[in-house]
Amino acid sequence: MNDFQKHLSLFNEFLSKNVTNNQPIELYEPVSYTMNQKGKRLRPILVLIGCELFGADPASALPTALSIELMHNSTLVHDDIMDEAAIRRGQATVHKKYGLNSAVLSGDLMIFKSYNELTNQEPRHQPALFSLLSDSIIEVCIGQQLDMNFEDKAKITIAEYLDMIEKKTAALLGCSLQLGAIIGDADANDAALMNRFGRNIGKAFQIQDDLLDTYGEEAVFGKKIGGDIVQNKKTFLLVKALEKANATQTKEINKWLKSKDETAKINGIKTIFDDLKVREEAEKLMEVYQDKSLINLNLIDVERDQKAPLKELAYSLLVRQT
Ligand code: IPE
Ligand code: IPE
Ligand code: MG
Ligand code: MG
Ligand code: MG
Repeated sequence: MNDFQKHLSLFNEFLSKNVTNNQPIELYEPVSYTMNQKGKRLRPILVLIGCELFGADPASALPTALSIELMHNSTLVHDDIMDEAAIRRGQATVHKKYGLNSAVLSGDLMIFKSYNELTNQEPRHQPALFSLLSDSIIEVCIGQQLDMNFEDKAKITIAEYLDMIEKKTAALLGCSLQLGAIIGDADANDAALMNRFGRNIGKAFQIQDDLLDTYGEEAVFGKKIGGDIVQNKKTFLLVKALEKANATQTKEINKWLKSKDETAKINGIKTIFDDLKVREEAEKLMEVYQDKSLINLNLIDVERDQKAPLKELAYSLLVRQT
């Protein structure tokens, strides 16, 4: 078993003991439905690795690992309402399966359960954990609002896109690593570097998510391919395409953005993406963020060998298909 699998099974065992059904079933079933799906468990693993990097027992960070996965899952349940998504992790989304009201309320419940988990950490760590988690989730909310605002904006710059994904996605990855570092009693400088490492990885991670949403395989990715195109999401692909397009291509993109014919729209926009080679640009930018993340990692004051699992994880995220 490599480090990653070890942490995954440690976390899954903890989750199965701590996420149980309760009454009323209408409130709790959507929570266990979501939490027991086959998510990648990236954020809890980052918490455990972050803690272990500074010499502490990763098991001591399990409540925080569960906290961050609960919080992440709450954002997914609510995100799927906002994005009108019907499938996630290859299964019906919560609002499709249980209705809108249940999705709102069970998502809320996961947020409060997430906070509750932090009370199981040592009291001396709690103020820092609560404060970091809250600040990070406020960023996620801001990023999520920007993501929706951008749907109706004609022109978004790459800088605006990068700011949006830093908030909606990268903030929580950085937070996960820093939470782990806090429990591992890292010094403030190293804990901040962990956050920056996670944010750079997080930006590459969201660019890959954008890529997979258009070029992935539905059975593996678990979400509807072309969903972002249908919703006029300002993904890296669309922002870059609008930046590179000539007058004719711009007109063509704008025509498709108004189309109600989903299949034709997906194919039409994809053809323009291919013509403008925006996929290649996305792949290049992911490498830029990976390089930036490695600079952060190198500065962290622990033995080089100890950093190998994080380095490996960073590489694996860039080639993921799921
Ligand atoms: C989905 O996150 C939301 C994004 C930030 C792209 P993940 O891709 O980590 O989702 P799961 O938890 O593995 O399903
Ligand atoms: C990811 O946004 C950020 C959050 C869920 C907060 P997406 O909308 O791209 O995530 P997926 O693709 O639905 O998982
Ligand atoms: Mg979204
Ligand atoms: Mg979404
Ligand atoms: Mg997405």
